[in-house]
Amino acid sequence: MKHLLSIDDLGRDGIEDVCDLAESFLEVTQREIPKVPALRGKTVASVFYEDSTRTRLSFETAAKRLSADTMTFSVSTSSVKKGESLRDTVQTIEAMGVDAMVVRHPSAGAPHRVASWVDAAVVNAGDGRHEHPTQALLDVFTIRRHRGPDLDGARVAIVGDVRRSRVARSDALALAALGAEVTLVGPPTMLPESLAGWAATAASDLDEVLEGLDVIYLLRIQHERRDAAYFPSLREYTTRYGLTVERAARLAPETLVMHPGPMNRGVEIAPEVAEGPCSVITEQVANGVAIRMAVLYSILGSGTLMSGAGGSGIGGPGTGGSEGLETGAPDV
Ligand code: NCD
Repeated sequence: MKHLLSIDDLGRDGIEDVCDLAESFLEVTQREIPKVPALRGKTVASVFYEDSTRTRLSFETAAKRLSADTMTFSVSTSSVKKGESLRDTVQTIEAMGVDAMVVRHPSAGAPHRVASWVDAAVVNAGDGRHEHPTQALLDVFTIRRHRGPDLDGARVAIVGDVRRSRVARSDALALAALGAEVTLVGPPTMLPESLAGWAATAASDLDEVLEGLDVIYLLRIQHERRDAAYFPSLREYTTRYGLTVERAARLAPETLVMHPGPMNRGVEIAPEVAEGPCSVITEQVANGVAIRMAVLYSILGSGTLMSGAGGSGIGGPGTGGSEGLETGAPDV
């Protein structure tokens, strides 16, 4: 795998391989010293043209836990403000010696363009309304950790502003690849104009699909991508599509409640539900670091694992950090 631009780059086997690898890295993140030398000498740059809390920090934490060097580019403090183009910017960053760029951009397709301009590996960290593949990977990883690795026939509802959501697109692709049955739920103005390419069905009455769900995935209302009034008011939205305490009470006790964050509490999800026993929202964040370690390792790590003298590895369980790992046999 050279780049990760879309979930389609992986397919079912690729998704399962990344999840299996993430299991080992999750164990690393739980060690007393949660760090291994697997990507020592590599440099990962995060190139973010949009605001982000969890995705940027998650990638940077993942890179650091693999002992890679990290570089951070934020558009708000960069020469983009002086009119520098995307191409000039990424080629400038690459000239400093970068092995991978983690790219977030408000335009769909921007990471694909970057991949055609630089030799570094490119990971899509969210491009406009298009895709957010590592979010989908951490989401299926989280579901697998609760249900077991077989997602065939799992019933998942993705609720809200599906049309404007890159998370919905990548999640639906990943879940469908693993055999899950995905229903997109929202008012017609928030559902895709066509279901072509979605591998999902659509519904506009949330109350009709609640029963028998294995996962309910709430999406954030995309205020910043709102190009028309698509529902009368937030209150109206919550009444029909919010996961209120009353609706949550109708879910089976083992249904997982998920949200990619950032949440609009009280709009798409009630605060009590976000913190309730079915919610795995903070687990999603923790799992995100392990998944991004697995992605960065899959892209940059080949040849460094098991490389003997001066080589590196992730170490066996309980090895307790980077010390003494160089000659240890890795467990992946
Ligand atoms: C999502 C994003 O930026 O696409 N957040 C995230 O990466 N966890 C979802 C969103 O902003 O609604």
